[in-house]
Amino acid sequence: MNAKIRLGILGGGGDSLIGVLHRVASAMFDQFQIVGGVFNPVWEENIGFVESLGLPTNRVYIDFDTLIEEELKLPETERMQVISILTPNFLHFPMAKKLLENGFHVICEKPLTTTYQEAKILQSAVQKTKTIFAVTYTYTGYPMVRQMREMIVNGDIGKVQKIDAQYYQGWINPIIHDKKKRANTWRLDPDKSGISCCVGDIGTHAFDMIEYVTQLKIDSVLADLNYLYADNKMDIDGTMLIRCSNNAKGVIRTSQIATGEENSFTVQIYGDKAGLKWEQENPNYLYFLEEGKPLRVLKPGHSYNSKLSLDGTKMPPGHPEGIFDSMGNIYKGIAKAIKKEPYNHAEFPTITDGVRGMNFIECVVESHKNGNVWIKIE
Ligand SMILES: NC(=O)c1ccc[n+]([C@@H]2O[C@H](COP(=O)([O-])OP(=O)(O)OC[C@H]3O[C@@H](n4cnc5c(N)ncnc54)[C@H](O)[C@@H]3O)[C@@H](O)[C@H]2O)c1
Repeated sequence: MNAKIRLGILGGGGDSLIGVLHRVASAMFDQFQIVGGVFNPVWEENIGFVESLGLPTNRVYIDFDTLIEEELKLPETERMQVISILTPNFLHFPMAKKLLENGFHVICEKPLTTTYQEAKILQSAVQKTKTIFAVTYTYTGYPMVRQMREMIVNGDIGKVQKIDAQYYQGWINPIIHDKKKRANTWRLDPDKSGISCCVGDIGTHAFDMIEYVTQLKIDSVLADLNYLYADNKMDIDGTMLIRCSNNAKGVIRTSQIATGEENSFTVQIYGDKAGLKWEQENPNYLYFLEEGKPLRVLKPGHSYNSKLSLDGTKMPPGHPEGIFDSMGNIYKGIAKAIKKEPYNHAEFPTITDGVRGMNFIECVVESHKNGNVWIKIE
């Protein structure tokens, strides 16, 4: 029998944004079974939410420390094997650290931690414990993102020479101009969010995506951030110039005050032979651009796609793959790793990607604070 992996969840309660994405994604390939967790710090809401889902309540715990204590009392064959951390950012580090110390595999939302230092501590713990540690940069699971990566790796666009990534949202616009509202949003509170709002929340997606599809390392960054108000400690908009290991240069443009924008995440990579373009809001189209030739549009599920891309498609061509499928593909890869089955390391982002993300955030803020200067990423 193919036993399901026992999954615990921290955060992601009924009041959360990202919880449903993880619950659906973990169920998508019948590999995981949610056995319990702490979904909300308020007990009535925690237990009430689990009851409303129709899940067993015997392993819903009052808080994180109790979860660890009680789960360790169970035989290994019943204990949670992997735990997803879906809480606000400041809880990622203490939770992940204790989980690793107690032998659990971890799936952690991005940004990995609130500081680069914390991220490096987690990385050492992962190396020591040899646990599986995934960081859910959700967008890397889309079939056409995987296809983009494979085409770049295969040399279809030649040597990468120009990079352009944009992640524009507008959701903070109604909050940022109201003093009370901006004081009550955790993403604008450095104690809960870390040193950056916009770059930490969505700039890291762009950074990770560039490194994922190009397989290049972003070497250095020059940033100009916008905070709009003197009492606002967190960036809500930023433009970053980037330089890569192979002399390719480019730009990452991020904003949460791009009024009217939703999740306009676009990635454009140009090589000396051709270019590739992908847009998150139309994720089933990958545009292949060549000089003097008609534009080609690649779509998921066709046999012309790579094995990695096809592994992330469940239905025949013409059935759109969306954000749930993308996260589902990431969970599918994690399941293979936990079950010690063969997998492609491009199937899910790891602790290394999370650590690089934190390094990037700190370099960006340092660049801005020092007068928009180039900062080397380690
Ligand atoms: N991968 C992505 O694309 C993506 C998208 C959105 C959010 N995120 C990340 O997911 C995380 C959560 O974001 P969100 O938007 O869902 O936040 P949210 O504020 O909507 O939800 C946070 C959840 O955590 C719970 N929580 C808070 N403290 C807790 C504690 N001590 N124990 C247990 N539960 C607790 C809250 O009750 C709530 O259910 C953040 O790190 C964020 O950056 C990632």
